[in-house]
Amino acid sequence: MNARPAAALPFAFLIAATAACKPEPPATRMARELRGAYPEVATANGVVRTFDVEARPAELPLVDGANLRVWAYNGRVPGPELRIRIGETLRVRFTNHLPEATTIHWHGVRVPNAMDGVPHVTQPPVEPGGTFTYEFTPKDAGTFWFHPHVRSSEQVERGLYGVLVVEDAAPPPYSRDVVWVLDDWLLDETHQIFAQFNTPHDLMHDGRWGNFVTVNGRTSTVLAARGGERIRLRLLNASNARIYAPDFGALDPRIIAVDGLYLARPIPLGRFELAPGNRLDLDVTLPASLASRSLPVVDRFYADTPHHLADIVVDGDTGRPPPTFASPAHARVPVWSAGLTVPPTKELRIDARRGGSYGIEWTFNDQAFAGHEHHGAPMLTMDRGGWVRLRFVNASFRLHPIHLHGIFFRLLARNGVAVDEPFFRDTVLMHSKETIDIGLVPLDAGQWMMHCHILEHAEAGMMTLFEVRG
Ligand code: C2O
Ligand code: CU
Repeated sequence: MNARPAAALPFAFLIAATAACKPEPPATRMARELRGAYPEVATANGVVRTFDVEARPAELPLVDGANLRVWAYNGRVPGPELRIRIGETLRVRFTNHLPEATTIHWHGVRVPNAMDGVPHVTQPPVEPGGTFTYEFTPKDAGTFWFHPHVRSSEQVERGLYGVLVVEDAAPPPYSRDVVWVLDDWLLDETHQIFAQFNTPHDLMHDGRWGNFVTVNGRTSTVLAARGGERIRLRLLNASNARIYAPDFGALDPRIIAVDGLYLARPIPLGRFELAPGNRLDLDVTLPASLASRSLPVVDRFYADTPHHLADIVVDGDTGRPPPTFASPAHARVPVWSAGLTVPPTKELRIDARRGGSYGIEWTFNDQAFAGHEHHGAPMLTMDRGGWVRLRFVNASFRLHPIHLHGIFFRLLARNGVAVDEPFFRDTVLMHSKETIDIGLVPLDAGQWMMHCHILEHAEAGMMTLFEVRG
């Protein structure tokens, strides 16, 4: 580098240099580090994409192909795949043909508060026969999903969920872009959905775990591909409670996005724990040399009870080596290395106790959510634009995937030990007796939910509100 005479230094540089002499408080610095990680506001390009979505009971060949009575969006489970491009405005004209009220929540999407789909908080519930139009311009490209926020432990379990894909302005040139929705089903001896929800057993343990595991609604899902392809595989865990650790064997995929957002750099899949609500975008390369064969994908969350998820069946070859474009995972993700030096803004202790309408209730700081219609004051108020550290203390032996609406956060530590995940999340799994710390900067004013995504725990009290002052 050429040395420049001091007189030639730009004025702005001098100001920055002067400001740097006075130490900047870590929280201020960390809020500043967020800049450029993801946009603060949406930029609408004027294109409106309209979809009609209705929820109604249906009978569909699901699981192993026998007819299953479900509740479905547009007569399908998973529901319709809504695909738009970043900059476009999504308009969903929703009609409820269920026998009970419902709403649609857009999980992971940074929506205006009024579009968040939380009954009695951001909108009235949509009664049977009623309609509601959701309209927003996503700020982020990525893999998102939608599901009801009314009696979710039953409505989601009955089949109400779908994927929203927001494509990049210039999508990376994968050979194909595939969505796999993972779910499990608890079927009774008549091979229908076991109709008792929120049982004491589910509440005392890790929620409702099914006896069938499906990908895109079927136990026998096959992704037909060819050697030499490079596939973007979007995984969503739509289960009420089950956690997956997908294992692709020798394929060894790279993670390019978690919960919608690209990573700072691609990382090996490893033993990533895909908890309810989480999404993973994988970069899967099929070597050209793969002769025709079937590659099983297996869940190994519990090593002693692996579950077959699906098969990638390779038939033939593209005749070319796999495309070699650069990974899209090169996002700006703040390191927030000073995160643990700032005391927690709030500590939230999670535990269960006897009581409530199910006999057992789950609590944040000894408060059980009394239902959306009776929600009290927010448990926590934060200022827009300020850096916040939250600590969650799991006083129970159970699993709790913690989910925040309307915000991405970074996991800072588990049990006080710093972790360096090169990505944001909207849901993080807490293990038995674990303490976690997360860092975040709220950008959108309103009242937002924070809850366990084991839907039985949420239903039995493990939900609360936080407010972001605008
Ligand atoms: Cu999938 Cu309240 O969330
Ligand atoms: Cu929980």
